[in-house]
Formats: sequence, C-alpha cells, structure tokens
Amino acid sequence: MKQYNVGVIGATGMVGQRFITLLENHPWFNLTLLAASPRSAGKKYSEAVGKRWAMKTELSEKVGNMVVYDATADVEKIAKSVDFVFCAVDMKKDEIRGLEEAYAKAECPVVSNNSANRHTDDVPMIIPEINPEHAEIINAQRKRLGTKRGFVAVKSNCSLQSYVPALHPLMKFGVDKVLACTYQAISGAGKTFETWPEMVDNVIPYIGGEEEKSEIEPLKIWGRVDGDKIIDAASPSITTQCLRVPSSDGHMAAVFVKFKNKPSIDEIKKCWKEFKGVPQELELPSAPKQFLNYFEEPDRPQTRLDRDLEGGMAVSMGRLREDTQYDYKFVCLSHNTLRGAAGGAVLMAELLAAKGYFD
Ligand SMILES: NC(=O)c1ccc[n+]([C@@H]2O[C@H](COP(=O)([O-])OP(=O)(O)OC[C@H]3O[C@@H](n4cnc5c(N)ncnc54)[C@H](OP(=O)(O)O)[C@@H]3O)[C@@H](O)[C@H]2O)c1
Repeated sequence: MKQYNVGVIGATGMVGQRFITLLENHPWFNLTLLAASPRSAGKKYSEAVGKRWAMKTELSEKVGNMVVYDATADVEKIAKSVDFVFCAVDMKKDEIRGLEEAYAKAECPVVSNNSANRHTDDVPMIIPEINPEHAEIINAQRKRLGTKRGFVAVKSNCSLQSYVPALHPLMKFGVDKVLACTYQAISGAGKTFETWPEMVDNVIPYIGGEEEKSEIEPLKIWGRVDGDKIIDAASPSITTQCLRVPSSDGHMAAVFVKFKNKPSIDEIKKCWKEFKGVPQELELPSAPKQFLNYFEEPDRPQTRLDRDLEGGMAVSMGRLREDTQYDYKFVCLSHNTLRGAAGGAVLMAELLAAKGYFD
C-alpha cells in the first residue's frame, strides 16, 4: 500500500494525543507534522503538551522532539508538506469551519473530529462500517470548493458510536423509535481525574449540545447521497439523555428500541454476530475483526473490562431483553477516544486512502 505523510492539527489535546499513539506505528500513514494553537507553536511537542500527556504509553523521544506548528498561521506551509491532516481542535465553531475549509482549499484533505462541518450538506460524516458510500459526495464538495484534492470529511459525535452501530444491522426490521441514555467518560471532555477532580464520586446530568448531536447525527449517517447533498433519513425517531459519569474512558448507552416488524431475540443476536462492513472486507489496518460483540453474561459489557476490545475499535452489547413499553432494551459500549474519536477517524482515513481519495 502507498505511504502517506500526515499531520495532526490539535496535537496537544486529548484526541490529538490519541492520534499520535495510533499513528506512530501505522503501516500506511507516517506522522510527520504536529500543530496546535499559538500557545504551543514553536515549542518542542514534549514542552507544549507537558503534564497534559494522558496516554498510558510513554511519549516517544521522536515525537517529543518534533516542533509544533501554528495550526492557523501555518496553513499553507502545513498543506505543502503533508498528504492530509487529522483535525481535533477546541475553537469556536465558525473558526473551525474556516480553518478546515482553509486546509481543503490549500489542497490538503482534512479528516476531522470536530462538529463544525457535520451538517454541511456536502461533507460526508462516515462510520466506515455503516455508510462508506457517503464518500462519493466528496466530488461535489470539491466542485464547490474549487479544489482538485482538498476536501473535508468528518466523524460523528462519540456519544452515538455504540448505539448507531448496534442498531444498524437491525434497520431491515424497521427501527421505528429509539430512546438512549448515555453514560459518558470524562476523556470525552478532554479531561482526566487530575484535571477535573470535581468528577470524582460525581455524576453531572448535562453535557452541552450532546443530546441534540446524539439525536440528529444518526439521521445523516443513515441518509443518502442525492446529487450534491446528503439527504437525512426520515426515521427512526430518537430521543436521548446524556450524562457525564466518573469513568476515564468508554461511553456506555442504555437503549430502548421499537420496531415496525419486531424480530426475535435470536434474530437480533444473529444480525450482530454476522454483521461485517467494508473495513472488514478490505481488511483495513484499524478495522476490528468482529465489529459487534454480544456478551451473554448479565453484568457485561463493563466500561473498564470491555472498552479496549479489539484495540478499542469494537462495539460491545449486552442485556438484550423484552421491554414493557418498547420492544427491546439492551446496553452497549464503545471507547470514546478510540472508536469514538481518533481511532474512528484513522479507520475513515484508511477507507478514503483505499478508495483513492488522497491521491
Ligand atoms: N475527547 C473526545 O472523546 C472527543 C470525541 C469526539 C470529538 N471530539 C472533538 O475533538 C475536538 C478536540 O477535543 P479534545 O477533547 O481533544 O480537546 P482538548 O483536549 O481541549 O484539545 C484541544 C486542542 O485544540 C488546540 N487549540 C485550541 N485553540 C486553538 C487555536 N486557536 N488554534 C489551533 N489549535 C487550537 C489545543 O492546542 P493548545 O494545547 O496549543 O491550546 C489542543 O491541541 C473538539 O472539537 C471535540 O469536540 C472530542
């Protein structure tokens, strides 16, 4: 496979750090450039990230010695020296939209974890196992931007990365109504227990903007490409409550689902077991072998035990049973900074590379 030089924009942040650990030994992508805010620019990465390094693995000397670029002031320079960038920055939405478009217009494709472009009509929001065909919209986006190579592709919010995959193979039974309560780890806010001690022994029943994202984004993912737009799916109707809980990594969801044509419990488990997507067929380097995993034990999946399944790229389900108001209820879990953020973005980039979008 062809090799690509890649940069990480927002490299000092929680998601940026994950990108670094995932890219250091990647078989196709060579991490050659790091960028962040003017506060970090010009410093060695080890100085810029300092005590914020939150990964379980040590920061390597090679990455620690890389000098950090200014993500905004150095767009042209960065665009010239890499084949594409991953982007995960904490800035105002309109600034992020402007920044991502500036890279795209400088002919540098952007694979983004930010929410700013998720509802741009011609920006694909891809979960590679679910809607890989949405990448086709990139041609229309390039036309709008006037670019040959440059484009923006985004990842969806981390909150929905467990229940949308779990529901996807069941769509053939007419998923009609979904109620999901999510129990989200503190790394989802870019925090650790050291930087957010208020979260020890605490639950905060509010995550700004999260419920809207959790309800609306699945409809774009299940939508279809029509000309120069992605048209949202009309159903299912989804309602959510998103809570911040005291776990370091791993978002859990308790899900209730009603179908138009109710399947049996065995049919649902069979759909989960047999489900394979394009990443599995293409054997992309970051693809989990078994994407959807059902646990028969009544007390699984558990955040600490199961979030790292298949390198944090698999989704786990458990406790599937009948409900008195909906048809069924179950729980599901995904690693929020791996499958839900950097890992999901790396897998999307592998899909785009395999389909020739970076050439
Ligand atoms: N954490 C998750 O699980 C998760 C999941 C999905 C999506 N996301 C999204 O990913 C993005 C980053 O999240 P995070 O948790 O990694 O945030 P974070 O830990 O707060 O990191 C923010 C990053 O943005 C950089 N930054 C801030 N202001 C900037 C500017 N003016 N110009 C360039 N860079 C700037 C910071 O650089 P400095 O260090 O120089 O300030 C840092 O590298 C957000 O949009 C978030 O919504 C996060």
